Amino acid sequence: MTELLGVLGDPIAQSLSPLIHNAWLREAGIDATYEAMQVAENDFASALETLAKRQVRGLNITLPHKHAALVAAGEVSVSAAKIGAANTLTPIDGGGWHADNTDAPGFLFALAHAGIEVVENQNILVLGAGGAARAVVYALHQRGASLTILNRTPSRAADLSKQLTNGQSAYGPIDQYRDYLDEACIVINTTSMGYTGNAIELARGKNRLFADISYGRIAAAQLAHADQQGWRTLDGLSMLVAQAAESFEIWFGGRPDTDKALQRVRRVVEAVS
Ligand code: ATR
Repeated sequence: MTELLGVLGDPIAQSLSPLIHNAWLREAGIDATYEAMQVAENDFASALETLAKRQVRGLNITLPHKHAALVAAGEVSVSAAKIGAANTLTPIDGGGWHADNTDAPGFLFALAHAGIEVVENQNILVLGAGGAARAVVYALHQRGASLTILNRTPSRAADLSKQLTNGQSAYGPIDQYRDYLDEACIVINTTSMGYTGNAIELARGKNRLFADISYGRIAAAQLAHADQQGWRTLDGLSMLVAQAAESFEIWFGGRPDTDKALQRVRRVVEAVS
């Protein structure tokens, strides 16, 4: 029988996950299909029940359900618990769900793919302190990075430093970012400022890395500016594919081809940008 997997969210029509996962399922010769499932905030618990009855093989969870997924799970990985969000649910034999957060290892994989395997004691500037920043900060702190977190609302940056790095990260208001650019080896923009056309004005990059968790039209101007200023760039598509690969590995055990997947989604995103 063809097995079912999918991603639950609202909105979900824009999700690239079906494109990524269905190609990997085909390549691995697995008889399964991965679908985008539109589930409103209040319907999450009942949707999970229905999917459990259908013996779904695995689920990705995106906004606005990442916290609810954590609460619904009987078993929670250490990283998902700490980050406070789950993006991967796997049914447990005998009932219930195991929750993981693959955004954090996915982010590290994407960094490694961009040539940065060691972040220990590196000064890294994280802009933003929302949901996406939590996974990034958690992952980098685990690897011993020396972090500065700047946010429009500084108290959220302070909370993140306290909760995820035992207060070992510096923090402050985002409008002071220029003061931190010189000493940063890597700058990571996790804010959604690209949606409103705002951008970070960068100093000369001198081949340092600028990563933006957005992609496509939203990130285009910011990444073009970074490129012009001599930064190496990494966009959110690499991270999207990497977190998907981590989920696939949890469900099926094998590592799928992330390079081909990245080329595929990039073609699609460029076609609609
Ligand atoms: P996500 O889950 O994608 O991280 P989020 O939790 O809504 O989304 O977080 C969005 C982040 O972008 C926050 O850090 C937000 O700053 P605030 O905490 O002050 O809201 C930041 N952000 C959004 N628009 C911004 C803008 N125009 N300038 C600077 N920061 C912005």
